[in-house]
Amino acid sequence: MWTDQDQAVATPAISTLDADPAFLADVLAGLAASPKAIPARWFYDRRGSELFEAITALPEYYPTRTEAALLERAGDDLAGLCDPGCAVIEFGSGSSAKTPTLLRHIEPAAYVPIDISGDFLRESARGIASAFPGMAVFPVEANFMAPVPLPSAVQGRPKLGFFPGSTIGNLTPLAATDLLRTMRQSLGDGARLLIGIDRIKDESVLVPAYDDAAGVTADFNLNLLTRINRELDGTLPVDRFRHRAIWNDSLARIEMHLEALDDLAFHVAGRRFTMKAGETIHTENSHKYGARDARTLLLAGGWTPMAEWQDDRGWFGLILAEARPHPMAP
Ligand code: AVJ
Repeated sequence: MWTDQDQAVATPAISTLDADPAFLADVLAGLAASPKAIPARWFYDRRGSELFEAITALPEYYPTRTEAALLERAGDDLAGLCDPGCAVIEFGSGSSAKTPTLLRHIEPAAYVPIDISGDFLRESARGIASAFPGMAVFPVEANFMAPVPLPSAVQGRPKLGFFPGSTIGNLTPLAATDLLRTMRQSLGDGARLLIGIDRIKDESVLVPAYDDAAGVTADFNLNLLTRINRELDGTLPVDRFRHRAIWNDSLARIEMHLEALDDLAFHVAGRRFTMKAGETIHTENSHKYGARDARTLLLAGGWTPMAEWQDDRGWFGLILAEARPHPMAP
């Protein structure tokens, strides 16, 4: 018989009612799936965002500093490529760390940072607005995976989309082309896109970038479990998991996993899950593209490459592409 008493036992002590329903749904579905997988976007709670900032300063993590140097190098070219009076639209602006370099060179009339995290967005938008007093800033709180209506104030302006950091690499090529096409829809015919894409390189460089000696990336990965425990009434034994970073050569991507060290049983939001020793939760993909691969990806997403910059080692590429109106097929 199902009594009130039983019900009380089944109800978790802390309520998951104020948990983000999308986070709850992704975690429950991801832990029930086989193989287990949780989308990488859930890394970024406050602690996760801080740990990512720390990753960008690690000696092994080359992408951030390589891209920052490339933006400086491309600056003079960019100034000539973007019309005065244009609007810069940044997808997933986060802390907008690389944006000042771009804005300094381009001097756009307007800047539209788009991010799903409203607090972070408004905070960094205020910082940018005070550093560039002549430029209008219109923050938009939105998920850029769906078409984003732009503020009416920038609708008549030439548009430059900005998508740095090789964030595109978190998506499978299928999802990446969908996103590029969505961005094209958001920005319209004639728009331009400046995108940073990490390159395929030797595994001996790639793996340490995602498994650093100081263990910061391990903490970043494991923090997802701490977040689940806190926000979703989880009982995951964080110290019984270890961080793994592997290069999947056939899919050209670094994968991050959380590997169970023993046979485990735990609860999340009142549901029970088990794992075998050695079983993993797949937490992130970071796809890498050869120079030509990256251009083909852009073309498949409706963006024609116009110019490209790379560092001396060819480790990272910055591509400027244009949304040309669909030509007549030959
Ligand atoms: C922010 C998605 C570009 O894939 O390199 C860094 C995230 N994960 N170290 C990346 C990340 C582990 C990063 N991106």
